[in-house]
Amino acid sequence: MAKRFLILLPLFSTILLLAVTVTESEAYSTTTPFQGYKPECFTHLHFYFHDVITGDKPTAIKVAEARPTNSLNVNFGVIMIADDPLTEGPDPSSKVVGRAQGMYASTAMKDIVFTMVFNLAFTEGEFNGSTLAMYGRNDIFSKVREMPIIGGTGAFRFARGYAQAKTYKIVGLDAVVEYNVFIWH
Ligand SMILES: *[C@@H]1O[C@H](CO)[C@@H](O)[C@H](O)[C@H]1NC(C)=O
Repeated sequence: MAKRFLILLPLFSTILLLAVTVTESEAYSTTTPFQGYKPECFTHLHFYFHDVITGDKPTAIKVAEARPTNSLNVNFGVIMIADDPLTEGPDPSSKVVGRAQGMYASTAMKDIVFTMVFNLAFTEGEFNGSTLAMYGRNDIFSKVREMPIIGGTGAFRFARGYAQAKTYKIVGLDAVVEYNVFIWH
């Protein structure tokens, strides 16, 4: 009998140790009954996105490309990092309302299609300090491209919605793109 107890002893101490660990550290997860979060607002944002690649003050830079990139003619494999200004009007000197910080990568072999991964960080008005996370497919030669808004911070917590991008102007490689963003938050 005593022998069997000795065999079980390490098991008991492990259980004890686990119990102590659980009570002493903060819980890994906490789940409470769902209170039924419902979006309270629907917001429409309208601004212009300026992607400047050329000149002495580019706001988007190429950080990587693959060996066959040039032979494919669609820049396949190129990765760009951008900190592009968002303005109220199409003119780059119009009021800046935020910045699009993130990256876009050429991810189609036959056309120029970008995978966009951006944080839209707003610096004006009631959304100053709030951000939106945009992730999606940007088929740049389509008239209107739609990309999901998959979340947000600050006033945009729990955000869900979509962005519609329309090319306003292209000068060389630099683009001005009109954005309409619709979100529940
Ligand atoms: C936006 O918020 C920052 C940080 O709180 C503040 O310094 C800045 O003045 C605000 N900008 C506007 C336009 O309200």
